[in-house]
Amino acid sequence: MARVVLGVAGGIAAYKSAFLLRLLTEAGHDVRVVPTANALRFVGAATFEALSHHPVTPEVFDDVDQVAHVRIGQEADLIVIAPATADLLARTVHGRADDLLAATVLVARCPVLIAPAMHSEMWQHPATVANVAILRERGVLVLPPADGRLTGADTGPGRLLEPAEIADLAELALRAGPQALRPDLLGRRVLISAGGTREPLDPVRFLGNRSSGKQGLALARVAAARGAEVTLVTANMDAPAPAGTRSIAVATADQMRVEMLREAKQADVVVMAAAVADFRPTIVSDGKIKKGSKDPEPITLTRNPDILCELVADRHPGQVLVGFAAETGDANGTVLEYGAAKLSAKGVDLLVVNEVDADVGFDRPDNAATVLSAEGGQTTVPRGPKALLAARIWDLVSARLSNPGPGHR
Ligand code: CTP
Repeated sequence: MARVVLGVAGGIAAYKSAFLLRLLTEAGHDVRVVPTANALRFVGAATFEALSHHPVTPEVFDDVDQVAHVRIGQEADLIVIAPATADLLARTVHGRADDLLAATVLVARCPVLIAPAMHSEMWQHPATVANVAILRERGVLVLPPADGRLTGADTGPGRLLEPAEIADLAELALRAGPQALRPDLLGRRVLISAGGTREPLDPVRFLGNRSSGKQGLALARVAAARGAEVTLVTANMDAPAPAGTRSIAVATADQMRVEMLREAKQADVVVMAAAVADFRPTIVSDGKIKKGSKDPEPITLTRNPDILCELVADRHPGQVLVGFAAETGDANGTVLEYGAAKLSAKGVDLLVVNEVDADVGFDRPDNAATVLSAEGGQTTVPRGPKALLAARIWDLVSARLSNPGPGHR
């Protein structure tokens, strides 16, 4: 359990902070809500008090005997401000302490995670751009807002990230520290495949796999939070793409190949997290295959293209390529030995190796893996949330981007 301060500023998205509060408390954290006076024009203090089990006030002169304006910030393990308005960003930059939230941020030495929400004009104004840059320089984690529907009929950048995404990123900051969300991918273009391809047998049946796409989504969410421009190629996924990312839906390996090869031309990093079917039925029946009374015909299979190998062959200088491998060990080799052989066969920079027979992997919120590098490096990431593995992968990618090896100049 961590002590989390949830700061809420006065914008229409303040109503979403009640959902975020719920998610943070359900994760087991002790959450203290500190709204601004204007936030309370959108959501009543009673809502925050009932959900957090703590008193709520925007004023420094309430609870003076408790010295709340100092204590709340000193005791916090993490401050999450969602939504943060342009005004709050400006006040934070200037070290103002004119209400309880500003004072709390000034006192705190814990990580501060800010999810802004405002109209696009305000987000793009040079004053706000400069304020965000200053805050990031000071180590404050300012999440890029989503691009989408704003208060009225207008759309654009400035929409609050979804409460579940903010909760996920807050958990990551608590577990892995603020480094996991540093803006080291600003200006980088990242392409990620996720999900599992389905190869049709007839109009209603397919050969598929158990990949849920959750690891790919976590990679996308963390990359976007670290400033990357993210494109996701998703195969048969139920979960929505993270806010602020662009996504292209495909069904089969062939369709994924086309999209990945095209999009990779502009990408600084390509991650193949999707589970791609190695084979597809040779004949796809136009009509539904009938049961009939005879014995079933065997299904003949044709080899699918290896997308990752084609991406490697097509790579441009400096591009970083990451593959995934779900492996099992046997008498001929360990999981890591098979992984190392696959890394060199595919020619990728990094290969994320999952042991599939451990209690990790498919359709679970957590994962464990060892990331192998082309130079023989091994980074073991113990079992934890998929966002944690995603952050470690981005650390390794980011190091390669800032220091490309001799083969990639
Ligand atoms: N991959 C791909 N195209 C395929 C098959 C796999 O791009 N047709 C990618 C996966 O997205 C993953 C990596 O290659 O990043 C390794 O996938 P995996 O299924 O483990 O490897 P295969 O080459 O299929 O080898 P095998 O199944 O025999 O272990």
